Amino acid sequence: MASDTILILGSGGQIGTELVTSLRNIYGNDHVIASDIKPAGSEHSDGEKKDTEGPYEVINVLDKDRIFEVIKKHKVTQLYLLAAMLSATAEKHPEKGWQLNMESLFHVLDMAKEKHIQQVYWPSSIAAFGPTTPKEDTPQQTITEPSTIYGISKLAGERWCEWYFNKYAVDVRSLRYPGLISYTAPPGGGTTDYAVDIFHQALKTGSYECFLSAGTKLPMMYMPDAIRATIEIMQAPAEKIKIRSSYNLSAFSFTPAQIAHEIRQHLPDFQVTYNPDFRQAIADSWPQSIDDRNARGDWGWKHQYNLKAVVEDMLVNLKSLKFEV
Ligand code: SER
Repeated sequence: MASDTILILGSGGQIGTELVTSLRNIYGNDHVIASDIKPAGSEHSDGEKKDTEGPYEVINVLDKDRIFEVIKKHKVTQLYLLAAMLSATAEKHPEKGWQLNMESLFHVLDMAKEKHIQQVYWPSSIAAFGPTTPKEDTPQQTITEPSTIYGISKLAGERWCEWYFNKYAVDVRSLRYPGLISYTAPPGGGTTDYAVDIFHQALKTGSYECFLSAGTKLPMMYMPDAIRATIEIMQAPAEKIKIRSSYNLSAFSFTPAQIAHEIRQHLPDFQVTYNPDFRQAIADSWPQSIDDRNARGDWGWKHQYNLKAVVEDMLVNLKSLKFEV
């Protein structure tokens, strides 16, 4: 609704950075409160100062009282919880990863249950699936036996979201994002991060050592599509949201060899070597392609970017940003 006031927890991350900009364009700068654990204007890794266009609050998502204080201060109606520890980092810090990913979700769902906010967005991931899940065209409802702490937290979170909806009518909406490719803020600690790093290294050094093997196929999406999906599911009439755990969401899939080939269409001398590390096992446990017919049918999801378009757009934008990596 135009009258909404929105709080974004984790606004300095890969998704948050772009979501804040898009939401401010729609709702107005003053109606979108950015928040992260660091003070406003702290340097992001691209060297730019961010979060100076509108309201900003320092929030540690584990601090429920602080979240409550900001909700009351700004009369927040809608909340996006984007702070999380991603797959690779959470494998190294399982207790911290579990605590951050789950406690923050409970804080937010409880705020909605107590009617302090009207609507919640929480992201899930292809990581909610596991090695026993069918790998191609993974259905919405299928075997979910995630083998990472991150994936276990996403699957558990999905079940809690649905439970809060059924039990307390909490209007929570969620998407299972594939790997996300973007050029503004970098991802951190994920397994699909290679698909962003590869562009930076292609432009900076002309070569890239990939931590996944050449043939590791994963579902991916360009950030403008992911942002549009996120805003569209939040703006859809409630009766169209038939899944209250999390929707499968898909655009296209590729392997490191395939994206390297596509980059070589623009940078013919680009070299890639492969040196798989512990993240290979994580990638191998995830689906290779996703069936997202429920999202397409229920609320009209449609992706726009394919691999070719993403590679073109990434290279043009990174070159023009003179991105320092
Ligand atoms: N892209 C995330 C990761 O790699 C998965 O959601 O951890």
